[in-house]
Amino acid sequence: MTSSATRATEPAGLEEYLDRARRRVDETLAGYLPEVDAAPSALCPARLALAMRHSLLGGGKRLRPLLCLMAAEACGGTAESALPAACALEMVHTYSLIHDDLPAMDDDDLRRGRPTCHKAFDEATAILAGDGLLTLAFEVVACDVQPASAALRCVQILAEAAGPRGMVAGQMADLQAEGRAEASGGPADGTVAELEAIHRRKTGALLRAPLRMGAVIAGASEPGVQALDRYGRAVGLAFQIVDDLLDIEGDEAKMGKRVGKDSELGKWTYPRFLGIDGSRELARQLAEEAVAALEPLGSRGDRLRGLALALLERDR
Ligand code: IPE
Ligand code: IPE
Ligand code: MG
Ligand code: MG
Ligand code: MG
Repeated sequence: MTSSATRATEPAGLEEYLDRARRRVDETLAGYLPEVDAAPSALCPARLALAMRHSLLGGGKRLRPLLCLMAAEACGGTAESALPAACALEMVHTYSLIHDDLPAMDDDDLRRGRPTCHKAFDEATAILAGDGLLTLAFEVVACDVQPASAALRCVQILAEAAGPRGMVAGQMADLQAEGRAEASGGPADGTVAELEAIHRRKTGALLRAPLRMGAVIAGASEPGVQALDRYGRAVGLAFQIVDDLLDIEGDEAKMGKRVGKDSELGKWTYPRFLGIDGSRELARQLAEEAVAALEPLGSRGDRLRGLALALLERDR
């Protein structure tokens, strides 16, 4: 996830911890997917199962699941207990990417180093693969998060983050803002506050949810939940600012997605409003805010602390 330049700032073993956790998430995700069964009587048509598999498995930094596992551990719970919620978050995120890439949205042909779902299959299949992942996510939370009271709370948190006041709202606002700058002839026809509202919903909400879900599953006290929530809120916005920067400065091969798309589409981005240096400085301030939020957790917050700083330097 990080360039070699950041390794010096990471707590010992963070990369190894993340790699191990990522493998565990990948195995569990694979087990949740419908089987690829070519028999005409198969419940899930093979084409749909293959499309879901294509987008969900292989590739992806798994940041949302990792945050969920780390939050549970930071609150004294086990990573194991948070795995179903972690997988559900990745399913919702992957669905959001499949739809984000559709011709009617950002019209991308490359994702996670391979053809986007609608390119590898077709648009209708991609829409349904997204629908399938979104719905499966809620089945996983309802059936596998324990105890039932935590499952209920996780359903609420995930639905709020993904829905029409969260990610879906942000995606709508992102599309509505597209091209408004060109139309006005200026650098941007809007305010930084409006841009922040877009980014906090389209990306921030689904990065904040894992912290709250992990804390709830670990049975954290209210101050613990609040501390992690503040961390998630700050990291969530910083993450999209870095995504905007990488669209300008990043390497397509490393990221596994096209670069230069934001300006091509007239998107509202932080570099457009604040410039490259201003955006980088704001991301740095937000990472510091995230680190400060972890204070009540003491040394249990070390990994999350390291991750917030490493995300500033990510190159994919
Ligand atoms: C990409 O998310 C879309 C954004 C919300 C910025 P990630 O950068 O987490 O993508 P993957 O999951 O690693 O592919
Ligand atoms: C995507 O933001 C946010 C969601 C998928 C919800 P972007 O459109 O900037 O993400 P990329 O750059 O295509 O990954
Ligand atoms: Mg988009
Ligand atoms: Mg996009
Ligand atoms: Mg982007």
